[in-house]
Amino acid sequence: MKHNLKEKTRVLVTGGLGFIGSNFIINLLNKYSHYEVFNLDAELTGSNKRNLSNLKNDNYHYFKGNINNKWIVEKLVKKCNVVFNFAAESHVDRSIDEPKPFFDSNIMGTYTILETIRKFDKKLIHISTDEVFGSLKTSSATEKHTFNPSSPYAASKASAELLVSSYHITYGIDAIITRCTNNYGPRQFPEKLIPKTILLAMNNKKIPIYGTGRNVRDWIFVVDHCEAILKVSQKGKKGNSYNISGHNELDNLTIVKKILKIMNKPTNFLKYVKDRPGHDFRYSLNTSKIEKEIKWKPRYTFEEGLNLTVNWYLNNSSWLQEIPKKNIGRIK
Ligand SMILES: NC(=O)c1ccc[n+]([C@@H]2O[C@H](COP(=O)([O-])OP(=O)(O)OC[C@H]3O[C@@H](n4cnc5c(N)ncnc54)[C@H](O)[C@@H]3O)[C@@H](O)[C@H]2O)c1
Repeated sequence: MKHNLKEKTRVLVTGGLGFIGSNFIINLLNKYSHYEVFNLDAELTGSNKRNLSNLKNDNYHYFKGNINNKWIVEKLVKKCNVVFNFAAESHVDRSIDEPKPFFDSNIMGTYTILETIRKFDKKLIHISTDEVFGSLKTSSATEKHTFNPSSPYAASKASAELLVSSYHITYGIDAIITRCTNNYGPRQFPEKLIPKTILLAMNNKKIPIYGTGRNVRDWIFVVDHCEAILKVSQKGKKGNSYNISGHNELDNLTIVKKILKIMNKPTNFLKYVKDRPGHDFRYSLNTSKIEKEIKWKPRYTFEEGLNLTVNWYLNNSSWLQEIPKKNIGRIK
């Protein structure tokens, strides 16, 4: 993407009140004055208005709305140069309980964005996940690996990716897919492993561990992910996808123990519970392509990122007040 540095680059961020979208907006506006951000969010599960309530910046504009609403999507895409599509239903357990909202937001929502990108000839950066490749015993998936999603969430993300690729091939739209491993960091909805563990430990409650706790995920500090997405938007090739990872493959039990250690809590806080159905054992991405083509590498070690994250939750307990109690109800 070429731009005159004096000119504003207007970007539409969808799902910007969520975990990664809000961190992306904060990092972008704090670092660069030539970006202007339009944030479109339907305020569904995962969103928190407090995520961006301290952002006082003339280059930031918020719109409440659904990416399935063609009228608002067209109105905003028209104004912008690039769309970063973060908006999605994102929690695997919820997709198992009730898949339809995942298909509505993640598949049909992406379709609406794609139609608008096509109509106004704009650029799309579509945010996807390593879960599209399913469980891998030992190897790491390259960008060419076959899709093998296990959960309705992963299937909805794989479907969205296929739609994005087909719109590039059929209509020639300018689109890139980024595919990332598990994120952690400030502002993550507390039903996910790391914030849930921190909050339960803060409240001296037992921490549930699925099955044996040996399921492996590759963890990346959210700031590293946000920087990778921005670099891909500036240097990536259209029609391509890029894997992003933090190279921290750790099992759930190890992570929970590390958190308890930082917080000076005993390990008898652990409680083993029945495994999630279809629980993938391991995800892993090969990231040679982004390292070689885009010259991106993560900057944070897991220890640095985890310490920053635990401290953020300890110092921002008021942040939780925006989250409806029924949604935190999953913290048992
Ligand atoms: N969290 C991770 O570890 C991770 C890893 C890889 C990829 N991803 C992808 O990154 C993106 C963001 O994930 P997250 O963890 O920030 O999720 P999140 O649940 O914290 O935030 C998602 C946001 O999207 C909004 N949203 C959902 N459906 C919408 C719709 N139809 N219209 C408008 N807004 C809508 C929600 O209100 C919420 O604010 C998702 O696409 C997810 O699949 C996440």
